[in-house]
Amino acid sequence: MYEQLTEFHKRPAPFSRYTADTLWTDAHIAQRMLDYHLDPAHDIASRKPGSIQRIAGWIDRRIGLKGKSVCDLGCGPGLYARDFARRGATVTGCDFSETSLAHARACAGADGLDIAFVRLDYLADPLPGHQDLIVLIYGDICALSPAQRRTLLAKVHAALKPGGRFVLDAFAKAQFAGLEEKTGFGFRLMDGFWSAENYFGFSKTFLYAEESLALDRYLIVEPDRSFEVFNWLRYFEPEELAAELRGSGFEVGDPVDAVTGDRWKDAEAMFSIIASRPD
Ligand SMILES: C[S@@+](CC[C@H](N)C(=O)[O-])C[C@H]1O[C@@H](n2cnc3c(N)ncnc32)[C@H](O)[C@@H]1O
Repeated sequence: MYEQLTEFHKRPAPFSRYTADTLWTDAHIAQRMLDYHLDPAHDIASRKPGSIQRIAGWIDRRIGLKGKSVCDLGCGPGLYARDFARRGATVTGCDFSETSLAHARACAGADGLDIAFVRLDYLADPLPGHQDLIVLIYGDICALSPAQRRTLLAKVHAALKPGGRFVLDAFAKAQFAGLEEKTGFGFRLMDGFWSAENYFGFSKTFLYAEESLALDRYLIVEPDRSFEVFNWLRYFEPEELAAELRGSGFEVGDPVDAVTGDRWKDAEAMFSIIASRPD
């Protein structure tokens, strides 16, 4: 245990472990995540319903959703996918959380919406092709290493029709300035979020100022097993992300406020970029 905690205490190299599948697909954690997605009172995992409507609204005004093929990558419980479908798009929602997808399918069915919800890992599996629009919403790009970002951007580029658009949002560099390194410990840390069993949880936030990168690292110790989760979050200047998009063959517009779609002027607000695959 002493050795395990000593190891946990050490600052890992940036993006040295990727544990997103534990966070999103472990049955217990995925259910607790789904509860967060669906709680309209806060912006954890998914934004509040009013913000989601505003985002779908500006994407519709800027791009025109009616009659378009739209792929929602990391769709979670399908909150955007359903809104896009109501606006007349033919939507495919993709995610690797079967828990979220089951919820998304049930809600779409209840609303009479014909949406394909597909279980896939967008870093490893083929994406649905011939799309007019692909979206990646709520900072998912920020959780990826530079190599993973290159992989994903190449896959998105290939999955778009010529002239197709890619809309993604990201956390802004000024948001990183407010973060602090900290350590936490607790019996059933975070109110039983990490397991249905009793456990002791340890948490540690590491900051990498040069890379504008934060890591929330968790060690969960149960009677019979232990596991770790690494949550990486890279904060961007819009131009940094724009340069990566251009490097992957996209044309890139000016950043917009992620929620309103207006010109991005609050440096501490998330921004979105609308990128196009050239004709
Ligand atoms: C922050 S949530 C956002 C969900 C949704 N876009 C929203 O805003 O309501 C990230 C989602 O991406 C999914 N995800 C993360 N990495 C993924 C991967 N490699 N392949 C497929 N889905 C992934 C997670 O399961 C989760 O549903």
